[in-house]
Amino acid sequence: MARTPAREPSLDRLIDAALAASAGACIVLDEGLRVRFATASAAALLGCPIPRGVSAPALLCGDKPKRPVAEALAAGLPVHALVPRPGGDDEHLVRIRSVPLGAGSKPLGWLLALQDAGAIGSDRTVEFHGMSTRDAGMKHVFAVVQKIARSDATVLVRGETGTGKELVAQAIHRLSDRKDGPLRVINCAALPANLLESELFGHLKGAFTGAIRDTPGHVQLADHGTLFLDEVAELPLELQAKLLRMLETRTVIPVGGRDPIAVDVRVISATHRALRQEVEAGRFRADLMYRLRVIPVFLPPLRARRGDIEVLTQRFVDEFNARGKRRVDQLAPTALAALEHHDWPGNVRELRNTLEYAFAIGEGPELVAGDLPPELVEPGLDAEPMLAAAEVRPTTTEGPPEARRIAAALTRTAGNRDQAAKLLGLSRVTLWRRMRQHGLV
Ligand SMILES: Nc1ncnc2c1ncn2[C@@H]1O[C@H](COP(=O)(O)OP(=O)(O)O)[C@@H](O)[C@H]1O
Ligand SMILES: [Mg+2]
Repeated sequence: MARTPAREPSLDRLIDAALAASAGACIVLDEGLRVRFATASAAALLGCPIPRGVSAPALLCGDKPKRPVAEALAAGLPVHALVPRPGGDDEHLVRIRSVPLGAGSKPLGWLLALQDAGAIGSDRTVEFHGMSTRDAGMKHVFAVVQKIARSDATVLVRGETGTGKELVAQAIHRLSDRKDGPLRVINCAALPANLLESELFGHLKGAFTGAIRDTPGHVQLADHGTLFLDEVAELPLELQAKLLRMLETRTVIPVGGRDPIAVDVRVISATHRALRQEVEAGRFRADLMYRLRVIPVFLPPLRARRGDIEVLTQRFVDEFNARGKRRVDQLAPTALAALEHHDWPGNVRELRNTLEYAFAIGEGPELVAGDLPPELVEPGLDAEPMLAAAEVRPTTTEGPPEARRIAAALTRTAGNRDQAAKLLGLSRVTLWRRMRQHGLV
């Protein structure tokens, strides 16, 4: 094909339309990561013009100090990431996926497929390293994790049991430069102090009865990787002093040893407790709290993000369907209502176990309320029977299940929309919108 000396506007429009039809909003980069073509929809998504010749890392990540996406692009690694919209505030995210172009080992260039990942505050479901959510707080956590993963900063994850603390630690490790190194997990609540010390810091031969050889601890085994200290608030005070020493000097002294051994680890810790209260009660060292909590991350309990119950239910139904023993294509409205009204003290873990139970107990393509464990459906056994009871009111049995749930929540809160929105795990605006949709205004 002859080279066109000047740009041909009609050809550009044709290519734009072809790319938009096949790949959606996208940007074509040459092997030097410079923009050669961008669809109009890509510019609209990013919220800024995309000049030809501009470097993609600079366009997408600006001069931010942490630029994991830019670095991955520059290294020729596949990118699958969420970045804040360059032409907007940090609250709006764009999902980026890179596809190498050309058949050889060295790509001719890259196609960056872009997708609107929604405002952090919107209702859209996002996926992040094995986690699904449509909750604004969780999305914020994912954005923070993405930003800080490649630094070596110490992270403290707080959340009730089953909220995904370990998944967050895994995501940070996988997104970090230490991903090829080990991730060592140790539960500080699981062992008595003397065993825990040796588990953490190792021991020398003869340090105690049964110490038949020099044995490295988790800290040393996490060298060049990440150490995940689960339930860190349960660490006895004397070990807190040793952990602090390790964080300050980046060395460990095994039990029975005297010489410090240098270690290169990133520490992520987790707890279900408020560390500050532990400090105030004299059970936790303030200096260690500050060391561990450089970047605090809070995972809200499932009952505070009820919108996620449906999202996660769908996720686990898909997962269990893939096992092939039973195929569930439908969730009975009463079953979903029971799931949505339960309080989930065990959070996402409990929800997953509940669905696993339901898959095993029930039969056929519809998952019904009778498949669920009794404490979810038998009124009176549940700590918070809430909406289930309200559902039988004559005024609320009409219409689709959501309308009924909304009506029930409003009944329960005597028409207070703020409280009803809270109960349903919706924002006020979303509640209002849905009320209008269902003709409840
Ligand atoms: N947002 C989420 N999306 C999907 N699965 C999740 C999510 N959060 C937690 N889980 C699942 O719930 C269970 C508990 O997660 P985990 O990270 O071990 O919680 P924690 O460490 O806080 O007790 C695991 O099976 C995990 O896969
Ligand atoms: Mg855990």
